[in-house]
Amino acid sequence: MSFPVRLPLFGMENYISDFIFKRFSEDEESINYYKELIDKYREYKAIPSSLRGPIFVPIDLTYRCNLKCSYCYVAAPEEIPELTTQEIKILINDLARLKTFGLCFCGGEPTIRDDFLDLLNYAISKGMYVNTVSNGTNITDQYAEKLKENGILSVQISVDGSTNAVHDQLRGEKSFDYAINAVKSLVKNEIPVSIAFASTKYNIQDFPNVVNMAEQLGAKWVRTQYLVLTGRGNMCLPKNEDYDIIKQFILKEKRNPKRKILIEFGDPVEHIKLLPFFPNFTFSITPDGWILPSPYLKYAFGNIKKQPIEKYWKKGLNKIWQNPTMLKASREIKTEHDFMKINRVSAGGKYYYTDLSDEVVY
Ligand SMILES: C[S@@+](CC[C@H](N)C(=O)[O-])C[C@H]1O[C@@H](n2cnc3c(N)ncnc32)[C@H](O)[C@@H]1O
Ligand code: SF4
Repeated sequence: MSFPVRLPLFGMENYISDFIFKRFSEDEESINYYKELIDKYREYKAIPSSLRGPIFVPIDLTYRCNLKCSYCYVAAPEEIPELTTQEIKILINDLARLKTFGLCFCGGEPTIRDDFLDLLNYAISKGMYVNTVSNGTNITDQYAEKLKENGILSVQISVDGSTNAVHDQLRGEKSFDYAINAVKSLVKNEIPVSIAFASTKYNIQDFPNVVNMAEQLGAKWVRTQYLVLTGRGNMCLPKNEDYDIIKQFILKEKRNPKRKILIEFGDPVEHIKLLPFFPNFTFSITPDGWILPSPYLKYAFGNIKKQPIEKYWKKGLNKIWQNPTMLKASREIKTEHDFMKINRVSAGGKYYYTDLSDEVVY
């Protein structure tokens, strides 16, 4: 509770105190208790570890994608048996019962699933906030209207350059135009937009221009992070000096009173270090149902095709960061390079997992 960290809530911050009241304020004693937690949350922007459910759950709806970005960590060549609409709805029901606050529909490209809007609508009907991440190719004016109608909280669009040339060399022909049009359609429909910039050796110098462009387009956040080296990521690594330049730029711009947009630098190592202190905060779900304490590691805690998430939660998922294997990983990973030692992608691009649910007895 006393950790001054900023967790990747993608715009959910403003809603969390309402959520805490809605979900947890059953009697006067707990109202006072949660008031105190909310104050701590406001002060530190940290989620109190004493909250009971998995607060935020990213669900990778698919690993399929209509683009082939040259640095993508997903890089899943083989078809995997995706969860059906019904299986995801059951998962959503179970998460709602566990008092989950928010979901992210991630991927691959989540909007290529035909049931995307149906699932969005369903999760919102269960009282959860939902955001999504997208390359923007499917987000036309009409689609953005539907996202709005169905109550999406915010959308993250990937923009890897301030020009067609810089962006398209990484993401493919015409992808820049699609992404920018998606941002415009979302802004027009008053959906808060976050722009994600993947820093690679081919585009990192363009980050300040993307920040300016994002601000002009009306995005609320722009973020970048260390490149994750799994999948195709290791072919595009920027130099440390280049990272330092953009980190300096971000620090300076955070102090710039004229900046309207929020700028963030994310470190994938941070969550591995923090999650032992926020054990109930998050886990993610793969398109074929694996439950991952960290999306970067090969460790899973069961698969929702075998048992409902509530069973895993009670069986030890709620304490997964006390598991010796996870604690060891948290200790050993010091830079993003260390993920390579225990990541879940094999040399051939196939995913494999070590299931910790069978070996854990709490
Ligand atoms: C995997 S994509 C899924 C959503 C959607 N397809 C998109 O591109 O926005 C989610 C985010 O991860 C970023 N990303 C992909 N590979 C990465 C890597 N190796 N390191 C860091 N970020 C990466 C993408 O640029 C994107 O912003
Ligand atoms: S980064 Fe997103 S759009 Fe690009 S290949 Fe990966 S999943 Fe597809």
